[in-house]
Amino acid sequence: MAISEHLARTIIDPNSYSKREIVDQAFAAIRAGHPLDKAELDDMEPFWVVSRHADIKEIERQPEIFHNGDKSTFLTTHESTARVKMLTGGEPNLIRSLVSLDGKEHKDVRGIVFPHVTPKAIRPLEETIRGIAREFVDHMLSFDGECDFASDVAFLYPLRVIMQVLGVPQEDEAFMLKLTQELFNNADPELNRARAQLSPEEMLKSLWETTMELENYFKAVTDKFRANPTSQVNSLIANAKIDGEYLNHRQLMGYYIIAATAGHDTTSNTTAGAMWALAERPHLLKQLQESPERINAFVEESIRWEVPVKHFMRSAVADCEIGGQQIRKDDWLMLSYQSGNRDEAVWADPFEFRIDREANPQIAFGYGVHVCLGQHLARMEMRILWEELFKRIKSVEMNGTGERTISNFVCGPKHVPIRFAVN
Ligand code: HEM
Repeated sequence: MAISEHLARTIIDPNSYSKREIVDQAFAAIRAGHPLDKAELDDMEPFWVVSRHADIKEIERQPEIFHNGDKSTFLTTHESTARVKMLTGGEPNLIRSLVSLDGKEHKDVRGIVFPHVTPKAIRPLEETIRGIAREFVDHMLSFDGECDFASDVAFLYPLRVIMQVLGVPQEDEAFMLKLTQELFNNADPELNRARAQLSPEEMLKSLWETTMELENYFKAVTDKFRANPTSQVNSLIANAKIDGEYLNHRQLMGYYIIAATAGHDTTSNTTAGAMWALAERPHLLKQLQESPERINAFVEESIRWEVPVKHFMRSAVADCEIGGQQIRKDDWLMLSYQSGNRDEAVWADPFEFRIDREANPQIAFGYGVHVCLGQHLARMEMRILWEELFKRIKSVEMNGTGERTISNFVCGPKHVPIRFAVN
């Protein structure tokens, strides 16, 4: 028996994610009754909902069986898939980025940036990032006790960090933020390109326009860095060669785009969500100020809690068994990181925000060969921001109701109104 239509609609509806409890309750019911089962809806290809932490890991551990790029890497309808294939000349994904590559191509392309984002490789960035964090703490404190932490701080700080790492000039940051928000928040009338409620057809059109605008911007970046190479990540991408050849146009654009979008929006959402959790739990700030070494646990719990990437899709290229279910060749699967991070088999109290967990094997960065390339940078920049901020404030509380983005893919809080007192 498949997952009920009501539950299936709930977990794919972008509106559900703007009220997180709705999605959490739906996934709790799915984990209890149908932890690995099919969702069958008439407007999209049937897909398995992978809700358990262990099953997500088992699938990600077998990239030779579960491919990223053969079908759409995120939830989409029959109609959108057909249009994407028309636009790309047959490919199921509009953007050919790392998350839609497999096998040798994925390994080679990932290998261009991977050595530059290991914990050791990013350590020398610590002081530069601390300087940026201090600037944003000063900026927050300039609001005189009240601000919208999401739009005033959380969306700007990781943006500044990643743009410096990539080699994008500061004057282009606002443009990058706008295009990123359009790309990931297409269903949200407050943030999408048209600033309006869009039909699926209009959404795809606006996604295409945003992608073309990003490509136009990045075309010039390749020429710039080939003429004058630097050690910045966009220059590594522009100048990299695989088997003696530069990356092709779609590989280059996919790389620039994923780094310039996923490289801040995810971390911004987590940072905003962490502040929301903190502002609702006044005792936490005191604990973190008395024992700053617990900031790492705070960061890890905020990543588990916020899960800014809600899902990725895989498709099976062979029959196999996962979690007691027979998966067939050509089946499509939704890995729900939000559900994996609430799995009762891993956390005794998954719906509590706690910084005293003995272990926190959160799966928000994914797992296996596609595990997030920026995970160490994300953790480091969040740790540094909190270290700098907690020295400067005495208290923080919510100053109104927070609001979440309408999206089922990469999303989180868009407004976190807070009131704070300075030391
Ligand atoms: C809290 C922050 C972040 C979260 C939760 C997050 C989450 C994810 C997830 C779930 C994946 C897919 C993993 C999988 O399929 O197993 C991913 C991939 C990726 N992330 Fe992140 N990410 C974050 C920050 C960043 C940052 C800062 C960067 C850039 C420096 C980045 C760049 C990438 C790239 C390039 C990939 C594709 C990797 C591949 O397919 O090989 N992410 N991320």
